[in-house]
Amino acid sequence: MAGITDSKFVKQLIPYGFDMVTIGGYNIDKETIKACEEILKRDRKEFKIDEEDVINHIENEVNNIKKEFNILVSVNLRATTPDPIIEISKIKNIDVIELNAHCRQQELTNINCGQSMMKKPEYFEEFLKELNKKSKSKTSVKIRANVEGVDTIHISKIINDLNTDFLHLDCMKLGTSYGDLEIIKKINKNTDIFIIGNNSIVDIKSAKDMLSVGASGISIARAIMNGKLHFNLNEIKEYSKRIKSI
Ligand SMILES: Cc1cc2nc3c(=O)[nH]c(=O)nc-3n(C[C@H](O)[C@H](O)[C@H](O)COP(=O)(O)O)c2cc1C
Repeated sequence: MAGITDSKFVKQLIPYGFDMVTIGGYNIDKETIKACEEILKRDRKEFKIDEEDVINHIENEVNNIKKEFNILVSVNLRATTPDPIIEISKIKNIDVIELNAHCRQQELTNINCGQSMMKKPEYFEEFLKELNKKSKSKTSVKIRANVEGVDTIHISKIINDLNTDFLHLDCMKLGTSYGDLEIIKKINKNTDIFIIGNNSIVDIKSAKDMLSVGASGISIARAIMNGKLHFNLNEIKEYSKRIKSI
């Protein structure tokens, strides 16, 4: 969550038993930093870091987590070209770099970032091909399901076919307060990628529901906004092991 999930924030949550934390989203080139400045004018939270400081900043944030915890760290990134993301992937302690093809802030979609990447599948494919070829870390792509004018299954297949390590899927269903589990089922049928299912996980039931339709893992955002988790991750992990062994 931009402007929220930095190392300090995620460190309070790691003891609840998470296997991976994601920090960011960070804006890492001139264009996205300019977009961030515009977004801040609307009083939305963002991490505003100068371009020349961004690599050092992210490296310090990751080390700040790794020196205390043995946990996987993913970094959610927004950029208009693959090169700055590839540079970040060279930071020693980063486990996963996550391409943000998810944000719907107009300042970002206007410059072909965030969810607008999915509206140009060929452009998206070229971008991701280059990123996956040159990344020194594992790669993840964060997308939002059910975006108007986007074939979520087609985009998921591109992500899968380019050997991306994780598909982080916000299975948002407009007008509802729960995730679109049907889309996870369909993606699971059409790909063999590790799906991190996201959206509206607020308790053990919603987490189990997401896993039962084919997500390999889950992620939680708004429900941990206050720095606390109110349900037991071990029960969810046990359930996940059980359904994988069936
Ligand atoms: C304040 C806020 C900021 C967010 N910033 C980002 C971001 O920078 N990158 C991203 O991929 N998702 C971002 N998200 C989306 C969340 O990571 C998540 O996908 C979404 O809130 C749905 O999951 P949830 O129901 O668990 O909150 C943000 C969400 C919120 C509420």
